[in-house]
Amino acid sequence: MSLTTTLTSDVADELAQKIVSQSAEKILHSLAERFAGSIAFSTSFGWEDQVLTHLIFSNNLPIRVFTLDTGRLFRETYSVWNATLERYKKPIETFFPQAQATERLLTDKGPFSFYESVENRKECCFVRKVEPLDRALERMRCWVTGIRAEQSDNRSSMPLVELDGARNLVKVHPLHDWTLSDVQSFIREYNVPYNPLHDQGFVSIGCAPCTRAVREGESFRAGRWWWEDTSKKECGLHLIEAHSQ
Ligand code: ADX
Ligand code: SF4
Repeated sequence: MSLTTTLTSDVADELAQKIVSQSAEKILHSLAERFAGSIAFSTSFGWEDQVLTHLIFSNNLPIRVFTLDTGRLFRETYSVWNATLERYKKPIETFFPQAQATERLLTDKGPFSFYESVENRKECCFVRKVEPLDRALERMRCWVTGIRAEQSDNRSSMPLVELDGARNLVKVHPLHDWTLSDVQSFIREYNVPYNPLHDQGFVSIGCAPCTRAVREGESFRAGRWWWEDTSKKECGLHLIEAHSQ
């Protein structure tokens, strides 16, 4: 697909219709073919992402795999990252926050500014995640994520394929209709490396200072930015105006 083509919701709709009844593995094959040379998958090394990483690497699919190292990740996340490199022997591109912006943030506001206000938290997420994400997705036409509909009310309204008009790409969530137990069974069956924090009540894992374990009965995302109002709990990676299919 030409880089100058402007993607429209028709492209997203047509793609959604084509892949909606395919397995996650088949979806990845279809996308790799359709978006050859301009497709990337973002991993945070959570168990959903490990399923997709396994499918991409073990099938040798031509899909770039990248991570955003915010500089504030758990030690366990670095361990599973390393275990993944050892297991699959494939590259995981890494994007780090810009040095100057990070130095400015820390100099002006210190290391825990995100606890003080939603505005400060979004500022930190912007510097450490969103700006690096924009760089990672430059020249891409398809962005694959590990989002599942079950993860939150907000995500249950996200379709399998979304148009990200601002970045001129389609965003696809191949595990959209997987349950947590589907994910866990896959990880067990293929002996996929996973973050040991998942065994300690951490369901959704982000940066260490902003993630806690969840208790029985709490929602999947209750452990993310737990001090904030539920409606504000997206970091800016997954905010899109225009939705499709
Ligand atoms: S977040 O927006 O709240 O941080 P979440 O942790 O649920 O997102 O992850 C959803 C998807 O976003 C992941 O499956 C992955 O594709 C992407 N993602 C989240 N954090 C990162 C990261 N640090 N690096 C790369 N991708 C990420
Ligand atoms: Fe900063 Fe927390 Fe956002 Fe990580 S999750 S980028 S530490 S505010």
